[in-house]
Amino acid sequence: MVWALSRSPREKQIFCAPGNAGTRRLATNLAIKIDEVDRLVEAAKTHKIDLTIVGPEAPLCAGLVDRFQAAGLRIVGPTAAAARIEGDKGYAKRLMKQACIPTAEGRAFELYESAREYIATRDTGVVVKASGLAGGKGVFVCPDPADALLVLERIMMERVLGTAGDCVVVEELLQGEELSVFAAVSDRTIYVLETAQDYKRRDDADHGPNTGGMGAYSPARIATDELLDRIQRDILVPIVDAMRNDGCPFQGILYAGLMVTPGGPKVLEFNCRFGDPEAQALLMRLDSDFLDLMEAIADNRLEEVDVRWKPDSSVCVVMAAGGYPDSYHSGKVIGGLDLVHRIPDTQVFHSGTVDQNGLTVSSGGRVLSVTAIGCDVDTARRRAYQAVDSIRFDGVHFRRDIGQRAASS
Ligand code: AMP
Ligand code: GLY
Repeated sequence: MVWALSRSPREKQIFCAPGNAGTRRLATNLAIKIDEVDRLVEAAKTHKIDLTIVGPEAPLCAGLVDRFQAAGLRIVGPTAAAARIEGDKGYAKRLMKQACIPTAEGRAFELYESAREYIATRDTGVVVKASGLAGGKGVFVCPDPADALLVLERIMMERVLGTAGDCVVVEELLQGEELSVFAAVSDRTIYVLETAQDYKRRDDADHGPNTGGMGAYSPARIATDELLDRIQRDILVPIVDAMRNDGCPFQGILYAGLMVTPGGPKVLEFNCRFGDPEAQALLMRLDSDFLDLMEAIADNRLEEVDVRWKPDSSVCVVMAAGGYPDSYHSGKVIGGLDLVHRIPDTQVFHSGTVDQNGLTVSSGGRVLSVTAIGCDVDTARRRAYQAVDSIRFDGVHFRRDIGQRAASS
């Protein structure tokens, strides 16, 4: 998002909290953590920030937007009450049921015993989800219900995910192809932006544990105009209405994670923000001013804004620290970043990186997201992987098959 803002032709100064080695080249990093709400409010006042854009879900769910609004500061993102659509999967499930929005059949449980009984009655696969925020690591797909019982025990009895597992959602395992749809939402206006496909599993061919996302490509192959119309009519409009009726109107970017099943699109989850790494794939295709779009959301005049997309395809490959999504080592020196500018239409976006003594070193699980666009998926893939192959750090792990589904070879 900092990169997209930096491309705006308007006069601007960009600050990023806390930022990383990548944002430091485009913005002024502020050493404030995302949960230090008082300091963020103070910084917005001190630096006379005209518009704040919130990236991740945790501060949204913690009420950062409410605090900024109370202080009279302009901000893009949902209030804590509206961010519950992501932060409380049990609530999201109930709201979807009330509004007859197609989603996996399932229920929310606060009692271990009741969840266990429910799973015991199932003879097909189930998915067990911690209701609270778990950084993309709280969902367990269990083709065998016996595994679901073990997962349940770990979440609700051993409490491996802490309070995120106070409530769990157990739902049917859906078959189909996944699709992420992003919409800008403000007041009553819903503006469907673009689509992407996320690769959530850690390893090639969708093996290994779920992660926050190991790569993405855009636009998603399966997103026809007809399917998008149906998603808008049956899913986006009803959820935005339901939230308004529930007293928590949504403002910001609404992300619908869907499974396109033989019976039509069904919701796996809603997120209250852009996806990571889908945003990287999406924003490289944006052909109009990102700042205009963000301001239009904040000022409730989405219908006036002109959003244009490049017809090209984009592919984003995440380079992660070995061991992610479990424990991993930080502090690895990253080499080869300076070679990437030779590859056309390719950007290296930083996630967990810091500058240390003149070197860029890793500081998180997902370290870099290498993103390229091209006239087709094959071209974008070739560029992205050429860049990935020129970057090195100890223990690096990435998938080789991002975008392959949509490629011709
Ligand atoms: P979520 O965070 O709820 O989107 O779940 C993370 C990932 O788990 C999804 O992207 C899917 O790959 C998988 N998943 C979640 N729910 C289901 C479901 N009901 N059926 C099949 N796969 C699912
Ligand atoms: N890539 C999935 C997410 O951002 O939630």
